Parts: sequence; C-alpha cells; structure tokens
Amino acid sequence: PMVYAVTPTYTRYVQKAELTRISQTLALVPNVHWVLVEDSDEKTDLVRNLVSESNLLVTHLAAKTPTYEKLGEKDPRWKKHRGVEQRNAGLKWIRANLDPNKDKGVVFFMDDDNTYSVKLFKEIAKVKKVGVWPVGLVGGLNAEAPIIDQQTGKVSGYRSGWKADRPFAIDMAGFAINLELILAKPHAEFSYKMEKGYQESEFLSYFTTKDELEPLADNCTKVYVWHTRTEKPTVKGIIKGLEV
Ligand code: UGA
Ligand code: MN
Repeated sequence: PMVYAVTPTYTRYVQKAELTRISQTLALVPNVHWVLVEDSDEKTDLVRNLVSESNLLVTHLAAKTPTYEKLGEKDPRWKKHRGVEQRNAGLKWIRANLDPNKDKGVVFFMDDDNTYSVKLFKEIAKVKKVGVWPVGLVGGLNAEAPIIDQQTGKVSGYRSGWKADRPFAIDMAGFAINLELILAKPHAEFSYKMEKGYQESEFLSYFTTKDELEPLADNCTKVYVWHTRTEKPTVKGIIKGLEV
C-alpha cells in the first residue's frame, strides 16, 4: 500500500530545517506519497524548491488558515486549532484524486515538527482500518500509549497526561486510517468547532470505535514517533542573501 502522509506547514524561521528533516526521513521510506500543504494563499518558492530537490512523490498544495482562526504572536499554542485548514485540503485532494477500486493506501497526518522513525512507516503500511501506537514526549508523559487488554489483545483505554477520558486520547501522530475508509466517509474532516484538544478524537469517531483499533508497534510497546518541538529561535540580525 501507499502511505499518504499529509503535512501542514507554515512560514517561520525553522520551516526549512523542519521540512529538511521530514523530507529526508521520507526519502528512506518506500511507497510514500507526501501531501504537503502550506498555510498560505500561494505556494512559496522555499517549499517549492525543497520539494523539487527531494525526489519524493509530492503533491504540494496551499490552504491558508483564516485570520480569525490563526494564533497571534503572543497567544499560547493551545488557544487555536493548528493544521485544520491544511489537513482538510489534503483530505479534499485525496478524495478528489484517488479511486477506492484502484488505489490502496493508508492516510497518516505527519506534522512537520515531530521526529519520525522509518520503522513507523512499516507499521502504518499494516493498517487495515485504523491503527494506533504510542507517541513519545507528549501530554506531560514520557509517552502516551494505548492500553492493551492482555486477554483480548484490544485497546481498552489510553495512557495520556491530558484528558485521558477523551473517546480517543491519541495525538495526531499516533494513528493512521486506511484510504478505503477515508474515501468511504467523504464528510469526515477537521473543524474549528471542535473543542480544543479534541481534533484527533472527534476525527477518529467518524471512522471507528475503540474496540476496532489495531494496536501496532509491537502491541503498543515501542515508540517510533516523538512529539518534538523545535525551539523558536531568537533572531537578532539578518544576513542578507542567505536563505535559512
Ligand atoms: C498538537 C498536535 O500534535 C497537533 O497535531 C494538533 O493539530 C494540535 O495539537 C492542535 O490541537 O491543534 P502542536 O505541536 O501543539 O500539536 O501543534 P503544531 O506542531 O504547532 O501544529 C500542528 C501542525 O500544523 C504542524 O505541522 C504545523 O506546521 C502546522 N501549523 C501550525 C500550520 O500549518 N499553521 C500554523 O499557524 C500553525
Ligand atoms: Mn507539533
């Protein structure tokens, strides 16, 4: 199957560094189609050049977050949803261009700031409906992870540092959905109306129940993705002519 990795990205000092890391991870992954969506009115040259140098199979799109939904410079990050417009644009492209009879694949939401092991993509390729796995360094824990019932082998709950009682207490980096399901539920998308922190949970609710989740990464005992965050650099001077 093809892994469709949908990545929202936006202009800031660390963008090129983030996209370099992500694209060079994807270069080690067979059968991946990168759906890269810029948070801007138009595609930028920086991202266009990075894409063309990458030699990856890429669909490059742009979808700007409406101004009233955008975080201000000083706002704490939980104040607004991030990546909504871009993931929805990715979903729209997937639904308009892929055919359930011909295209076999799995859809994964791959934020540009996390750190991904190539091992994760082998797990994603196994997803029949909805697969889940642990995510490192998130929610105030060393890792968040689905809890597996040893008797049934199914997910019975979640270890999460934050609202563990959410229907699916999973970070965006902790699940993937089979393309067939994505295409079968054309109205499922992300929304600004969702409660803060409930994007993942509400989106997953369109597709599955806890009972059906497929635990991956060695029964959810291995961490293959980390919710890293790049420090915002303090830039006090600009050297002209250097693209960073
Ligand atoms: C956490 C989750 O890991 C995100 O997947 C989720 O979207 C977010 O919370 C949320 O609740 O909205 P966090 O690390 O705080 O994420 O979010 P960011 O990494 O800052 O943003 C997620 C994605 O959206 C990134 O790929 C980022 O490049 C993109 N983004 C962020 C934009 O496209 N535009 C922005 O203005 C901000
Ligand atoms: Mn992030």
